[in-house]
Amino acid sequence: MKPYGKGAEKMERTSLSYTEDFRKNRGHLLKTLCAVYKGSYGKIFLSSVCFAIKHSPCWILPILTSNLINLASSGTQADRQKIIINAAAFALLLVLNIPFNYLHVHFYASSIRDAEAGLRLALVTKIQQLSIAYHKHTQNGRIQAKLMRDVEQFQTLSEQLFVNALMFILTIIVTIAVTLSKSRIVFAFFLIAVPVAVTVTMLFRKKIRRKNKDFRGEMETAGAKMIEMVELVPVARAHALENWEIKRISKQIENVKSKGYSMDTFQALFGSVSWLVFQLLQVSCLIFSAVLAFKRLIPVGDVVLYQSYFSTIVGSISAVIGLIPIIAKGLESLSSIGELLLENDIENNTGKIRLEKLSGEYDFKNVSFHYGDKPDRDILRDFTLHISEGETVALVGESGAGKSTALNLVIGFDLPTSGALTIDGTDIKNIDLRSYRSFIGVVPQSPIIFNGTIKENITYGLKNVSKEDFDAVIKAALLEELIAELPDGENTVLTEHGSNLSGGQRQRISIARALIRNPRVIVLDEATSALDSVSEKKIQTAVENLTKDRTTFIVAHRLSTVKNADKIAVVKDGCCVECGTYDELMQKQGEFYKFKQLQS
Ligand SMILES: Nc1ncnc2c1ncn2[C@@H]1O[C@H](COP(=O)(O)OP(=O)(O)O)[C@@H](O)[C@H]1O
Ligand SMILES: [Mg+2]
Repeated sequence: MKPYGKGAEKMERTSLSYTEDFRKNRGHLLKTLCAVYKGSYGKIFLSSVCFAIKHSPCWILPILTSNLINLASSGTQADRQKIIINAAAFALLLVLNIPFNYLHVHFYASSIRDAEAGLRLALVTKIQQLSIAYHKHTQNGRIQAKLMRDVEQFQTLSEQLFVNALMFILTIIVTIAVTLSKSRIVFAFFLIAVPVAVTVTMLFRKKIRRKNKDFRGEMETAGAKMIEMVELVPVARAHALENWEIKRISKQIENVKSKGYSMDTFQALFGSVSWLVFQLLQVSCLIFSAVLAFKRLIPVGDVVLYQSYFSTIVGSISAVIGLIPIIAKGLESLSSIGELLLENDIENNTGKIRLEKLSGEYDFKNVSFHYGDKPDRDILRDFTLHISEGETVALVGESGAGKSTALNLVIGFDLPTSGALTIDGTDIKNIDLRSYRSFIGVVPQSPIIFNGTIKENITYGLKNVSKEDFDAVIKAALLEELIAELPDGENTVLTEHGSNLSGGQRQRISIARALIRNPRVIVLDEATSALDSVSEKKIQTAVENLTKDRTTFIVAHRLSTVKNADKIAVVKDGCCVECGTYDELMQKQGEFYKFKQLQS
């Protein structure tokens, strides 16, 4: 079970270079977009050439048609041959469409898919590097949206640029060149008529879009209400509110119906009006060129040519204008991806001391800590505490006192803002935290279970766990009974969040996950507080197995846990106000004594 294969290593290198592209072009989205495709310029060029070839029949057909009409109307023997040559050449172009279309898509799709995969991997790499503090204050949904939706929108943008923008540019170049070379006066007509046609088309499209948006909004509301309704079925049933619920939902269904109908009819009406305006302009183009032909200013066949070009230009300009929202969205997504890639809040381990072993002696020396965004509020103040190798220390204190914060410093999720925390005599600021963390085991307050088997959940990230080691851990975490009961034993698949287990069982899996790493130091944050007393008893035994011969930090409220600790540290307002064994502190009748009185 390797953490990642060879391919992933290779891609990781390129993923770093994507981040570099964003850094170099910070604030210039178009430049960034170009930089992302840096390695693919050759492919993009080939893709464009193939596109021009495959698309050429669209521009050549009008020329050919006009040629044929002109030849047919002159009608000499030599012309007949020219007709055949023209037709054969055109047939060849049509056949070429298939291979060149394939090549065009092949080149652009492989560049876009490369960039898409590269960006996703760059984001994943970054997410794994970002500090825990960053992850804590950033909603998961936002990160998820960047990973999936933003990258997808970037891909859509790229695809549209490769196809539509390319078509637009080539079409405009060809039509301008052909029209200008054939007749200046028709070119002048285009200069006036095309903007009018485009404006009219756009105006209607905008109105229709608004109607669509209204309808979509109504659909989304309906969707949310439907989900809620389904979730509330047991509640509605329990209170005999079925009919009331149906009435409530039927109102929403009615809204969707009327908005949908209004959209349909509006679309039909405005669709036909815009069609009419467009046709009128088309006809005026026809009449204009027909008059020119009548006056012998242009050949008769060219009337068809200008007619087709006119609609092609109007069509592609409106297509490009229609692209604007997609482009805007795509660039916005690119900037959102950049936000994450350029985030500086990462753990820097380079050049720091790599720990080869850990004894587990900790010394908090006048440690203070505040969060970066709240420098005037010290969460820990002048916190002093010494823990010898192998000792178990229980942190007690009111909720909000700073116990979890102290544990976060132990794990290295946060660093002291003043004072020092030394581990085996070395300041944690100088330690390569990744090397350090390979020696510690953390059991969080709410166990994190992922969709996988019990075994996978326990051995998460480890390779080659021997059967003996695994069985020993199962035994120590008191999971033997549970595993024996399950039909597939240790290979039973757990649902995401472990909803098919009880709280105590989840917690014991979490303990087993810490145990199997055979850590030197254990950190438990209120891992047992939320459990009933039977589960608590089992957990207690599991915890004792876990903490044997290891330095242990434990936040607990239960008397039994606290009593067994070598040392109790009372935390109050971010300060360690008292420290000693249970008996010492009870005798002293100080803060701990008061705290206990208050609890009971
Ligand atoms: N990410 C955060 N940003 C700002 N303040 C925080 C953050 N996390 C915790 N705090 C504050 O730090 C204080 C100590 O919290 P914590 O260490 O979790 O307390 P305990 O574990 O003792 O209940 C609390 O007042 C809490 O509001
Ligand atoms: Mg806490």
